[in-house]
Amino acid sequence: MLNSDAPLLSGDALRQRFLEIDTFLLAQQSIWREKPFTQLRLHWEADFPELAVWLRARSLADAEASHSVPTALPAPQPFTDWARQAEQLSSVGVFPHAALRARPARMQNGIALRKWQQIEAFAGAVQGGERQYFASAQQWLDWCAGKGHLGRYLAWPTAQLECLEFNSELVSSGQAISQKYLSQAVHTLCDVMSSASAAPLQRSDAVVALHACGDLHTHLLRQVCVQQTPALALVPCCYNRIQAEFYQPLSAAGHASALQLDRDDLALPLTATVTATLRERRLRDQSMAWRLAFDLGQRKWRAIDEYLPTPSLSAQWFNKPFEQWCLDLAALKHLVPLPKQNWLELEAQGWQRLAQVRNLELVRALFRRPLELWLVLDQALFLQEQGFSVAVGEFCATELTPRNLLLLAWRD
Ligand SMILES: C[S@@+](CC[C@H](N)C(=O)[O-])C[C@H]1O[C@@H](n2cnc3c(N)ncnc32)[C@H](O)[C@@H]1O
Repeated sequence: MLNSDAPLLSGDALRQRFLEIDTFLLAQQSIWREKPFTQLRLHWEADFPELAVWLRARSLADAEASHSVPTALPAPQPFTDWARQAEQLSSVGVFPHAALRARPARMQNGIALRKWQQIEAFAGAVQGGERQYFASAQQWLDWCAGKGHLGRYLAWPTAQLECLEFNSELVSSGQAISQKYLSQAVHTLCDVMSSASAAPLQRSDAVVALHACGDLHTHLLRQVCVQQTPALALVPCCYNRIQAEFYQPLSAAGHASALQLDRDDLALPLTATVTATLRERRLRDQSMAWRLAFDLGQRKWRAIDEYLPTPSLSAQWFNKPFEQWCLDLAALKHLVPLPKQNWLELEAQGWQRLAQVRNLELVRALFRRPLELWLVLDQALFLQEQGFSVAVGEFCATELTPRNLLLLAWRD
């Protein structure tokens, strides 16, 4: 779904929207910080019993149906008020797309359709509208490039391309592909976090990063300023992949905010699963239901009414019957021997709790997009402070990728 009516965010609107979202997130943090998966009862349920009862009565299928658009759920107040505010605060425009010259059809070989469509949309957005700067770039740099599909698309047919990537297999296969389409392409084995990324940033006239995680994109933002790169197009991803315990704001407004975001908070925008397959969803549901059942069990077995973190488990674990899975997990957590159990009943309780958890999580889900926009606006404001012109908007529909916020920055 694309929000085509709203304007792109730029100029003073960046700061204004950031402050509005900041106020909203701070005011409601006792709501969105609560995690139904680890807490049997949420504190806000006592304040809003009608909403809690309504959500707890819904089925797993109901929750699934509302997952992508929680703001549309006709739940009792104050849900609808929060939803309306979240929707208003998250509304951003869509970048106009340039009609680009068609690329050779075989360029798409070996690229998943969804990734190819993301690349087409990214390239169209970067070179559309008034942004002649990007349209005339002659030296593209692809940051955390993978095989460099995006950079290659942009540089084709005659511009120069440099790709930075630290997986040597991706570097060599990317180089082999680029040779077929570009006369001047270099795929460099490089840890972008090291000083080796400085020179490529200095010589490029436009750097692009599609789905660069946490520290990889915040480091890029700082480095384009230090190395005086003229233009940047960034689609951030995995905000929680950071070394620090908390998000380190970049802009003055971010520093002034009282909002402290730990890695768990930073994972909230990533909980939208619009691109998961049916099989992936089934496995996710089974894993969650069994873990919730285990949680109910361990509270009794340990006689401690507290969530006990469990490690991530490979898909093979879930081929076992529930009873064996529980016993193996209990052994991992040094809880064996266990008292006699009605395993069927415990598993059923896990599934029942899953339906409640997934419905209660719809409250948190309202805050996914405002939180994500807060992060991207902090980054946009930082670039603005450093003298860039900046625009923030969507570059493709969420169905193509839920990480569809694009930050464009260029020096006038
Ligand atoms: C999510 S993928 C995105 C790849 C590509 N931009 C795309 O959209 O298809 C992130 C890429 O960053 C690379 N990467 C991770 N850490 C890196 C680092 N420190 N330096 C360079 N590349 C890194 C990974 O190997 C991976 O190819």
